Amino acid sequence: MAKIKTIGVLTSGGDAPGMNAAIRAVTRTAIYNNIKVIGIRHGYEGLIRGNFQQLKSYMVSDIIQKGGTILKTARSEEFKTPTGRKASFQNLKKEGIDAVVVIGGDGTFTGARKFTEEFDIPFIGIPGTIDNDLYGTDYTIGYDTALNTIIQAVDKIRDTASSHNRLFFIEVMGKDAGFLALRSGIACGAEAILIPEIETDSQNLREYLESGYKRKKSSNIILVAEGDESGGAYAIAKQVKNDFKDYDIRVTVLGHIQRGGSPTAFDRVIASELGVAAVEALMDDQQSIMVGMMNREIVHIPFNKTIKHHKDVNRRLLEILDFLNV
Ligand code: F6P
Repeated sequence: MAKIKTIGVLTSGGDAPGMNAAIRAVTRTAIYNNIKVIGIRHGYEGLIRGNFQQLKSYMVSDIIQKGGTILKTARSEEFKTPTGRKASFQNLKKEGIDAVVVIGGDGTFTGARKFTEEFDIPFIGIPGTIDNDLYGTDYTIGYDTALNTIIQAVDKIRDTASSHNRLFFIEVMGKDAGFLALRSGIACGAEAILIPEIETDSQNLREYLESGYKRKKSSNIILVAEGDESGGAYAIAKQVKNDFKDYDIRVTVLGHIQRGGSPTAFDRVIASELGVAAVEALMDDQQSIMVGMMNREIVHIPFNKTIKHHKDVNRRLLEILDFLNV
């Protein structure tokens, strides 16, 4: 393939802390290698509308510590249509963009794969989502920061829960996956977690609550992933209230607070590593792959694979959560 002279970079789907660190790494690695960088604003929407701006090194100064994404983001319905993708191709050609780095999750890579099946412009993906639900990478950018946000919030709730002897159902994000609930559950000493990967055994939950009640546990925190089949924290709290009239139950939905904030050191570092790896992959003639991190090594996973395969939660962590709640 001819040498890449200009690359585009965009963020798409839900924003995640550390996306800015990835934009910075992509921009500076490209510039270091004499490649021009065009920032595409508002994700695929910006591609369709030609919302482009050249990124110079100074423009990505002072962003490594900032949450959100300076390029803005969107969940584009239009990019799912052939017309939207054709308009994007024409804009890329007009601007002289030879390749694109997309930072996002499953939906972002599904769009990228479709586009690259139709048009001959290489796309490389960087995993950026707080959900950590992408096959082919141990961690996604934003996951660690979201975990830390959750544990800070849950620790505060624990104070009031034990002061009042209350049972709290706390809903965390994760529309299809329980990574956030599981890891933060361990970190906060949650009494139980409800996640989409495991069917909720109401009988078990009842028995557990009853035994805790008898042991006079001063508080109970149950983390519920928003995608759990119970229907979320309010729904499960209502069910439990019916069974245990004596329980003093409260519900907190943490919501979008989990998506914001300054990225942790961990997220800044993996975003930098993955950003560099994405540009290097392009210079190495790679295309239609996600750069991921497995066992601390950079890996290249075809879009097809990361989209098709389901990443499972760590079953050992589930056992650990149980052991630690005797
Ligand atoms: O994909 C990340 C995520 O934060 C999910 O956990 C959540 O379900 C979803 O985005 C919320 O998306 P939106 O902000 O578009 O409502």
